[in-house]
Parts: sequence; structure tokens; C-alpha cells
Amino acid sequence: MHRNAVMLAVVLLGNLMLPFISAQNAGFVKSPLSETKLTGDTFELYCEVVGYPTPEIQWWYAEVNRADSFKQLWDGARKRRVSINTAYGTNGVSVLGITRLTLEDSGTYECRASNDPRRNDLRQNPAITWIRAQATISVLQKPKINASDQTILTADTSSKQVILQCNLTTAHTRHKESFWMKNGQDIPNTRTEQKDTIYRINKPRADDSGEYMCVYTFDTAPNANATIEVKAKPDITGHKRSENKNEGENATLYCKSVGYPHPTWTWRKMDGKSPMELDNSTGRIFITNRDNYTELNILNLDINTDPGIYECNATNAIGNNAQTTILRVRSHLAPLWPFLGVLAEIIILVVIIVVYEKRKRPDDIIDGKTTFAFLMAVRIHK
Ligand SMILES: *[C@@H]1O[C@H](CO)[C@@H](O)[C@H](O)[C@H]1NC(C)=O
Ligand SMILES: *[C@@H]1O[C@H](CO)[C@@H](O)[C@H](O)[C@H]1NC(C)=O
Ligand SMILES: *[C@@H]1O[C@H](CO)[C@@H](O)[C@H](O)[C@H]1NC(C)=O
Ligand SMILES: *[C@@H]1O[C@H](CO)[C@@H](O)[C@H](O)[C@H]1NC(C)=O
Ligand SMILES: *[C@@H]1O[C@H](CO)[C@@H](O)[C@H](O)[C@H]1NC(C)=O
Ligand SMILES: *[C@@H]1O[C@H](CO)[C@@H](O)[C@H](O)[C@H]1NC(C)=O
Ligand SMILES: *[C@@H]1O[C@H](CO)[C@@H](O)[C@H](O)[C@H]1NC(C)=O
Repeated sequence: MHRNAVMLAVVLLGNLMLPFISAQNAGFVKSPLSETKLTGDTFELYCEVVGYPTPEIQWWYAEVNRADSFKQLWDGARKRRVSINTAYGTNGVSVLGITRLTLEDSGTYECRASNDPRRNDLRQNPAITWIRAQATISVLQKPKINASDQTILTADTSSKQVILQCNLTTAHTRHKESFWMKNGQDIPNTRTEQKDTIYRINKPRADDSGEYMCVYTFDTAPNANATIEVKAKPDITGHKRSENKNEGENATLYCKSVGYPHPTWTWRKMDGKSPMELDNSTGRIFITNRDNYTELNILNLDINTDPGIYECNATNAIGNNAQTTILRVRSHLAPLWPFLGVLAEIIILVVIIVVYEKRKRPDDIIDGKTTFAFLMAVRIHK
């Protein structure tokens, strides 16, 4: 009894003491960062605070040059373009997001945090009960780029030149330079300071199709860019002509393509002249597709059903192409056949010799050894 009472006292005392021992003022772990953005873009600000109890987080906004008049922001404000996502754990974490930016979204954004019990008491000065971190967001008019239309490469264009062009028509500030990219990679030697920039593709092939982008850079603002799609029907640039396997092994057939947009792939098996859907009733067929690559795996090959001609077909909005691979499946015994053949021949020879020797007449001049040598010579000669 005595021990329990002491325990109870300790626990009670501990609980009473807890707020004094471990209460911790709110402090920022991560505060929002200032940024320059273009109209139509999106921005996100992060704010993370520690404290015990976990601090409450709020977001406030003041227009440019009006730092005295902050208004609180809420989830769904500004015609639902504002989103606020907050999670309270040991730390408080909040993300403020604004989409489809307009020039009016420029201003000062403030993350406020507090775990002061008096924080929502209107008689208290918020400057004392809340800690604050600010970021300035500048939204600039997105530069206008007049870019050429998409191009489709055909047999006709293959002997000509395709010209991609971008003109910077309006910009908030002077641009620094421009360059071209293809499929997200810089194209070397395309940097220029001109407002109008041209990229020429000589004798274009399917390989030249893709997503081209002209990018303009500025000293104090984010890059501006325009995308021009160059499309072509798929061309299958890699496949196996044939694959030879033993029964029970796995076969791997593949096809690689060029041509943009990336194709959808199908595999079929030729039945005479016409392709047929694959029969996967035994569940041994697996297909993996990756943009410009497809792989057909047949596990545990069956000598009766699996051999044949397989076709991979690449189809995109512009056209399609197909290639075939011959799959041969050998029996388990196949490697033994030559050996079994020789063995059978030797047995037959021995039988013939024995029979011949038994029936040999005494006046025969050829003896057994000579007969064997003679018959072997005949065999080798064959
Ligand atoms: C954009 O280019 C087209 C021709 O390619 C032209 O008709 C149009 O006026 C241009 N727009 C601007 C803003 O320069
Ligand atoms: C770009 O401007 C040039 C003239 O400066 C004009 O000939 C060309 O059509 C324009 N291109 C585009 C894509 O607007
Ligand atoms: C192109 O512009 C978009 C939208 O402004 C931007 O998100 C993207 O990062 C830009 N890409 C490049 C390579 O500049
Ligand atoms: C065939 O592939 C399966 C699954 O990938 C694997 O478990 C098996 O060991 C492979 N068989 C042979 C003979 O490589
Ligand atoms: C296939 O696409 C990848 C990226 O999507 C690219 O790196 C690769 O060069 C392409 N291969 C061919 C043959 O086009
Ligand atoms: C074939 O069947 C197996 C087992 O049911 C399945 O996992 C696999 O995805 C199927 N393959 C194809 C190409 O549908
Ligand atoms: C590829 O598949 C499509 C759709 O099934 C078909 O229309 C086309 O003829 C096939 N292409 C070739 C070259 O077999």
C-alpha cells in the first residue's frame, strides 16, 4: 500500500510539473523562401515548426508595399486557387500552394506559428504570442513566344529540311539568351542572343521526332519556353531475327523503336500469314513495355505450342510498324541425338561382324580384323 501511494504521488507530481518541465516555445525548422514566378505557374511555400505543445500554424498575406495590412489566408481562397495543407505531429508542417498565378498574387506571404495558450486572445498583441516568417513572391507576366506548329515527318519530308522556329514577342525584361532542347536534353551549339531562333533538321528521319523546346533565359526571372512536337510513325530499330532455345528454358524476345509519340506495343503469333492473339492460357507469357522498348518473355518453353513466328507491332497516332522473330524450341534429347546415332551404328557393325565371322568359310582369305577395318572405312567414307 505504502509503495503504491508513493507511486501515485510521483505520477501526480510528474503530471503537474510536466508543462513547466517540457513546455517549449514555438520555433521554425523550415521557413518559406522568396521566389519569382510567371503568370499561370504555381508556387508552394513550406513552413515547419517545433514546440511543445505542437504549435498551431496560420498563413497570412499582405499586398506589395502594404506590409501593415495582413489578411489571413484559408484553404479554398482566391476562387479555390489557394490550398493549405497542415499536419500536426511532433512538429507542425504546413504547405501553402497557389495555382494559376496572376499578377495580383504578388506580395508578402507570412507563416505564423504559436503554442502560447493566450494566442487567440484578442487583447494580446499577436506580435508577442506568434512567431512569424515571411517570403516575398513576385509574379511577372509570362513572356509570349510565337512558335511554329507541330510537324509530322513523312516519306515526303525525308529529303527536305524541317525548320522549327520561336519568336519572343513580349517579355517583362530583356532576355539573356535562348537555346533548344530535345526530349528534355540540351541540343549543343544552339545558344543565341537573338529574339527569333531557328532550329533546322536536315533530311529528318523517325529518329529526329520528339519533343523540341525553345528556352529563353532571363537575368532575374524564370526561364520561358515553348514546345514544338515533331511526330513520326514508329520505326523498329532493334529486334532478334531468331531465338533458339531448349524446351523448359525461358525465351526473351524484344523490339526497340524510334518515332514520337512513343508507341503502344502488341505482340502476336503468326498463324500462316495472319497474326493471332497470343494464347496465355498456361500463364507462361509476360510482356514488359517501356516507352520505346518491349519485351516478350515465355517461361518454361513447350516444344508443342511455343515454336513459331512472333510479331511485335508498334502503333502510334501517326502510323504503325511490325517486325518478326522466329522462335525455335529443341527437345531435351536433341543434344544427345548425334551421340545416339553413332552408338547405334557401332552396335549394328558389331552384330554384322559377329554374324559374318561365324558364317565364314575356311577358305576365306579375309580375317575378322580386316573385315572390321573395311567396314569402318566404309562408314567414315559415308
Ligand atoms: C505569330 O506568328 C504568326 C505566323 O506564324 C503570325 O501570323 C502572328 O501575327 C504572330 N503573332 C505575334 C504576336 O507576333
Ligand atoms: C518569326 O518572325 C519572323 C520575322 O521576324 C517571321 O517570318 C516568322 O514567321 C515568325 N515565326 C513564327 C513562328 O511566328
Ligand atoms: C518550361 O516552362 C514551364 C512553365 O513555365 C516550367 O515549369 C519549366 O520548368 C520550363 N522548362 C524549362 C526547361 O525551362
Ligand atoms: C525462367 O524465369 C523464371 C522467372 O523469371 C525463373 O524463376 C526461372 O529460373 C527461369 N528458368 C530458367 C531455366 O532460366
Ligand atoms: C528510348 O527512350 C529513352 C528515354 O525515353 C531514350 O533515352 C533512348 O535513347 C530511346 N531509345 C531509342 C532507340 O530511341
Ligand atoms: C499471362 O498469365 C499470367 C498468369 O495469369 C499473367 O501474370 C500474365 O500477365 C499474363 N500475360 C499476359 C501477356 O497477359
Ligand atoms: C499493327 O497493329 C495495328 C492494330 O492492330 C494494325 O492495324 C496494323 O496493321 C499492324 N501493323 C502491322 C505492320 O502489322
